[in-house]
Amino acid sequence: MKKKQSIECDSFFDDMNSLRLALEFDDVTIKTRETDVMPTDVNVETKFSRNVGLKSAIVSAAMDTVTESRLAIALAKLGGIGVIHRNLTPDEQAIQVRQVKRHLNGLIERPITVKADETIESILARRAERGYTFDKFPVIENGYLVGIITKDDLEFYDNVSKTAAQVMTTELVTAGPNTTLREAYDTMRSRKKKALPLVNERNELVGMYDFSDVKRLVSGGNTSFNLDAHGRLRVAAAVGVLKEAYDHIAQFPNDIDAIVIDTAHGDSKNVFDTVRSLKKDGGVTFDIVVGNVTEPESVKRLLDLGIDGIKVGQGPGSICTTRIVAGVGCPQLTAIHNCARMVRGTDVPIIADGGICESGDIPKAIVAGADSVMIGRLFAGCEEAPGETFAHHSGRMKKYRGMGSLGAMQSRGGRERYGQGEVPHEKLVPEGIEGAVPYRGMLADVVHQLLGGLRSSMAYVGAHTIPDLQQRGNFHRVTQNGVNTSHPHDVMMVADAPNYRR
Ligand code: XMP
Repeated sequence: MKKKQSIECDSFFDDMNSLRLALEFDDVTIKTRETDVMPTDVNVETKFSRNVGLKSAIVSAAMDTVTESRLAIALAKLGGIGVIHRNLTPDEQAIQVRQVKRHLNGLIERPITVKADETIESILARRAERGYTFDKFPVIENGYLVGIITKDDLEFYDNVSKTAAQVMTTELVTAGPNTTLREAYDTMRSRKKKALPLVNERNELVGMYDFSDVKRLVSGGNTSFNLDAHGRLRVAAAVGVLKEAYDHIAQFPNDIDAIVIDTAHGDSKNVFDTVRSLKKDGGVTFDIVVGNVTEPESVKRLLDLGIDGIKVGQGPGSICTTRIVAGVGCPQLTAIHNCARMVRGTDVPIIADGGICESGDIPKAIVAGADSVMIGRLFAGCEEAPGETFAHHSGRMKKYRGMGSLGAMQSRGGRERYGQGEVPHEKLVPEGIEGAVPYRGMLADVVHQLLGGLRSSMAYVGAHTIPDLQQRGNFHRVTQNGVNTSHPHDVMMVADAPNYRR
């Protein structure tokens, strides 16, 4: 879907740009409009990258105190996507990716098989020994699929010394390698089959669908899950540039949804060379997202490379010191708008990365032109984020650190993000800090409040969908007085709100 041209707030930003004034989220509020929309009616679906959808506009940051498989699984189940951080070896990172992709058994990629001459006794013993809880085994002879052993075959055999070939079902229904979850479900229902082996043109087994899993995924209460075409949770992984990127990518499973070339400055030669080389080698099965940038000219150069998503943000993150240490960056709201304007007419989405402090910042980012938001701090305190809680006089806390902090830079991935891959430890120049955030409980509760704020905003603006919000939204510029009045004032807060802290 190509992005539409007319955006209400263009003239607002034209005015600001003519004053050379760049804005942060707190500098604006969203104008309300006539509406027939209720918060419960809105659709928060959007896109992470050209070919990777989102059921909700939330992405988790590629940080070692935020996104490993546990949080990525929880977030994908809430409709978003997690980007596994890159302070891991290629093997470790690939394991994290696999854990997300294999969490739901949509497509079984490597089904456990039995040989045609294997006895029932041996199959039962192997099943008990390995603790297999399933009871459908494709039967292979000379590398080809010749039948399937099912629960009935294993229950009603009359002699354990019979071979798989003697008891197996040979009337098979099979499907091609690229069969989607939905197609598999339709075939299995219409042909009344509990297993659907997938075979290539040589009749070699390349996967299998199991009806009970497929049914649960297609018709169960999983409508909010962010799934790929095979019913697996979506996930992305951050990589660096050149060899470091290729080494990691080589270990990823084929079904990874996207990689994020994750650098402090995406408009740089090493990033371009990495993208060109990945595209030249061909066979790229995943989307390539690149970041971070803040200037429209940078976006133009990345679009020319044919990338699939752009991450915007230099310095707005809660743990960032880039703007202080290097004195560079663009206030985030303006950066989002200027970059989003550059992708109009394309189908390349913008991810607004960093600086989301309140739920109301999410619709502000979207009105400015973002398609999704990336969040670090608000997720670092969640149960599912890496690391344990620790006691502090203000309550339970979890560690949260910048990927450019000294601690994170001890590992190579952290150093490379800031172009200091070869720099010895004592000479590192950090661009982030190490800190802690209050423990926030389960991710689902945090995301519920964030999406609740987004839904409410959409209702105020009369937007049924995220593209509607981008089209209809516009801003008021507020003064410091306005900011003060926006927060609770002149009262003493006596109870915590689930979506507001000071
Ligand atoms: P929030 O505000 O959600 O921001 O905590 C998360 C984003 O911050 C970026 N990031 C850094 N930026 N120095 C920086 O300048 C750092 O050490 C650092 N670590 C993370 C990153 O884009 C993340 O998604």
